[in-house]
Amino acid sequence: MSEATERVISGLEGVLACESQIAYIDGSAPELSYRGYDIADVVRALSYEQVVFLLWHDRIPQGEELRAFEAELASLRPVPQSVLEMLKALPASAHPMASLRTAVSMLGALDERAEDCSPPELLRKAKTLTAQLPTLVAAQARLHRGLAPIAPDPSLSHAANYAYMLSGERPDVTTARTLETALILYAEHETNASTFACRVVVGTQSDYYSAVVAGIGALKGPLHGGAIDDVMRMLMDIGAPERAAAYVDEALAAKRKLPGFGHRVYRAGDPRAALLRGMAQQLSAARGDEKWFAIATAAEQRMRQSKGIIPNVDYYAAPVFYHLGVPLNLFTNVIASTRIVGWSAHIMEQYANNRLIRPRALYTGPRGRKLNVAS
Ligand SMILES: CC(C)(COP(=O)(O)OP(=O)(O)OC[C@H]1O[C@@H](n2cnc3c(N)ncnc32)[C@H](O)[C@@H]1OP(=O)(O)O)[C@@H](O)C(=O)NCCC(=O)NCCS
Repeated sequence: MSEATERVISGLEGVLACESQIAYIDGSAPELSYRGYDIADVVRALSYEQVVFLLWHDRIPQGEELRAFEAELASLRPVPQSVLEMLKALPASAHPMASLRTAVSMLGALDERAEDCSPPELLRKAKTLTAQLPTLVAAQARLHRGLAPIAPDPSLSHAANYAYMLSGERPDVTTARTLETALILYAEHETNASTFACRVVVGTQSDYYSAVVAGIGALKGPLHGGAIDDVMRMLMDIGAPERAAAYVDEALAAKRKLPGFGHRVYRAGDPRAALLRGMAQQLSAARGDEKWFAIATAAEQRMRQSKGIIPNVDYYAAPVFYHLGVPLNLFTNVIASTRIVGWSAHIMEQYANNRLIRPRALYTGPRGRKLNVAS
């Protein structure tokens, strides 16, 4: 840029900030693929562990390689006792995402090789945090209820163990598979705000943990991952399907944004929302509690009629998480505990082909002001 004379691209909309081979999004089709595989096929055919491996290594592990990867991740699940003690010591008023951010920062401080950003070390850290974040989030869920955290069970799959650590009970097949599908759907999403934050930090050649801490900080916001808690609160506020239309009308008249609607890239529909809608419907029926799904569909219908705005990933994920028994204040934390996979993939990709990310600002303030400096 010659000088800051160019047009500002508000919110960097449509700007291609880097090359990437991890996820492809076509907002108009709409399409989302992981490493070239359509997301609907991915959730149908692959386990969570296979998706993690695919996103990092660009191939689907099978047989012995898969079993070794599953066993390695399972072995990395326990978190240091000192981190659990720190979580316990934080005040109840701390935002759960702030507590998680602090825990990751502490894990970084405890890692003697934190500053080593060589490819094998980045991969080791990615595996460790992918295995440990569910343990931390489940511990938060237990500590909030005054209960002791549950130690991970290495004989269970990633998703089944997560459900077990959250509830204290071995999950049934539907619960484990629904959680697994939701974790896969949230694992990666191109250069969204939190992933971009990770890439910006790594762009300075700072360390892996600093990048993840930045990612958690960005995901926390209500325009990003924080929206999912707000969706559930909104469904509770609406209270009944017949009240949904009036609620939506009132919010739109007041120019209030409804959580779970709209997306920067998907304007015609979010492929993840379509899948989560089906999951929410099935799970609600299985749990014998279809109220939240009915409210959600009624509000969606009104929103489509009035403004044509689509539900995003968080919209139907909220009732899914609710029926899975995830505590409401930890919905965003669960997203963070799986988005770590995408963050890690992008951190590794950025490191492999790095250039400092440093945009410009169009200066609109005064210039040439004179100070009364005594000579
Ligand atoms: C996701 C989001 C931040 C994208 O923002 P954006 O790309 O800057 O979109 P814009 O704010 O430019 O929205 C375009 C239009 O849709 C409207 N709109 C977008 N999302 C809306 C929502 N959730 N409720 C009501 N109106 C919405 C905007 O008011 C704007 O209308 P206008 O042109 O009449 O002014 C935004 O849709 C939003 O705040 N959604 C709610 C939070 C959320 O669910 N976040 C999770 C995202 S996965």
